[in-house]
Amino acid sequence: MATKKSALSVARILKMKETGEKIAMVTAYDYPTARMADAAGIDMILVGDSVASVVQGRPTTLGVRLEDTIYHTEMVQRAVTRALVVADVPFPYCQLGPMEAVRACARVVKETNAGAVKIEGGVKRAETVRAVVDAGIPVLGHCGLAPQSVKAEGYRVQRDLDRLLEDATAIQDAGAFAIVLECVQRDYAAEVTQKLRVPTIGIGAGAGCDGQILVFHDVFNYADGEPEERPKHSRVYCDLHKIIDGGLREYVADVKEGRFPSDAESFGPAK
Ligand code: KIV
Repeated sequence: MATKKSALSVARILKMKETGEKIAMVTAYDYPTARMADAAGIDMILVGDSVASVVQGRPTTLGVRLEDTIYHTEMVQRAVTRALVVADVPFPYCQLGPMEAVRACARVVKETNAGAVKIEGGVKRAETVRAVVDAGIPVLGHCGLAPQSVKAEGYRVQRDLDRLLEDATAIQDAGAFAIVLECVQRDYAAEVTQKLRVPTIGIGAGAGCDGQILVFHDVFNYADGEPEERPKHSRVYCDLHKIIDGGLREYVADVKEGRFPSDAESFGPAK
């Protein structure tokens, strides 16, 4: 009898740092994508608040609602058998303080069965991370560029080593099991990675991190970006935009010119 694989535990992710096995992480927001990512051997899947830009067409992540996070995470969690699913807590639940954050994170875990949550921010968020961890919910931290603070800090590569070290250490000491480093100068990300006990997961932070995360729609050019609009730190592994665009144009032409459907694609009289 085939046995169902069990989900990767937080302890297993921590062990990967110890053994030097790199951690492969990607975002997903729906069932079929999560199934493919899981089957391909992705270790952790983030239901990111990047859903705002790549699925909802919003200019920033600030408009994502807790209900959106729950809706997408529930589908993703249902699809996986092995990967650890992490739900990104949307603005502003963690900014409102520990109690609001615990309430929001508990609701997400209760309604989706996600394995962990992600909380954005450094020193200022340490107390909140500790409260959520104390509530029994594993937390993935997120330091460096913080899209939820875009109004105050903008989008720019992070080059302040002292601040980065202080932020990441505070989040680690508050109990996070791993920390995303977003858009960080690569030698600084490598130095922070060496100094932390917990794994770092880089996005635009170079090869010195313990793992890497990319946004699914960037990896497959699904968000129809022109080459100059694509993030410098991402790599397109397959141009889905080109493939889908070609397929849709062929379908339109086939419908207009009567080539679709054929008899084989429709129903004749009952036999
Ligand atoms: O929301 C997201 O996809 C993220 C990643 C960029 C780490 O936070």
